[in-house]
Amino acid sequence: MSGTPVIIDTDPGIDDAVAIGIALASPALDVRLITTVGGNVNLENVTDNTLKLLKFWNKSVRVAKGAEGPLVRQLVDASSIHGASGMEGYEFDGTARECLSDKVAVEATYETLMASDEPVVIVAIAPLTNIALLLKVHPDAKRKIARIIMMGGTITRGNKGVLSEFNIATDPEAASIVFNSGIDIAMVGLDIAWQALILPGDIDKIRACGRTGKMLTALFDHYRGGSMKTGLKMYDPTAMAYLLEPGMFETTTAYVGIELAGSLTAGCTLVDLKGYLHQEPNATVCTGIDADGFRDWFVSCIKNCG
Ligand code: RIB
Ligand code: CA
Repeated sequence: MSGTPVIIDTDPGIDDAVAIGIALASPALDVRLITTVGGNVNLENVTDNTLKLLKFWNKSVRVAKGAEGPLVRQLVDASSIHGASGMEGYEFDGTARECLSDKVAVEATYETLMASDEPVVIVAIAPLTNIALLLKVHPDAKRKIARIIMMGGTITRGNKGVLSEFNIATDPEAASIVFNSGIDIAMVGLDIAWQALILPGDIDKIRACGRTGKMLTALFDHYRGGSMKTGLKMYDPTAMAYLLEPGMFETTTAYVGIELAGSLTAGCTLVDLKGYLHQEPNATVCTGIDADGFRDWFVSCIKNCG
């Protein structure tokens, strides 16, 4: 199969579901593996949800279960945003159980990386626990990772804490390992999705996109990341958009520090745009997006999902 080799690390999650659908339908991508991690909801549910999506879109991609929760901290899920199952609102017709690997995420990822004849892009749209474990268990994996494009962090305000974003704040220790790994990282933070809400007019177009449109709008009706009336915050699709259409984004390079010890600020991403911390930049940080272009791209991708 041609296309950029990709591994998706995910915790579906309604916005994850859209990002996964976009990736699976894109001729530009070769999705080699999907790994799951406890995040939005527990590991069993995020894995089941991944397998439901593969059956829905009739795609055969290897899935490997990863960490149940963060390296050190307790998992506090986001079921209030995505519903108890993580994809509340639509009755899926079974799961592609045959896609589930008997290997855990770290081993399946390592195997996939080492078997690839070219470095692989990791799209991380969940807490970074699996990626951190990979780097600790198989440090030589780094040379086969082209870059990590992550939905995570924020330049401004938070959605988990006052200043912290869910994926990073769920497992700050994992995020610190990843940001200090030396791997080429692109950070697509909360600020981006907030600049490019999916508006009611877009949702009407999506509703008309066949069975995928029916399924996604049923999920959107239960998604608490924004609303169908005021606009939806489609976080994970912004990371997929950066991979597929980077020209829609404004970026800068900066040192991103992960706060671990703060009693009030643990899990914050300190995006040092002015060099106050005197550290070498460790990430490309998205600072802006062509909001209308993203909305048009988003709808057209969903039309392609079939
Ligand atoms: O903060 C948004 C992120 O947390 C998204 O990845 C969403 O799916 C949740 O995991
Ligand atoms: Ca997610």
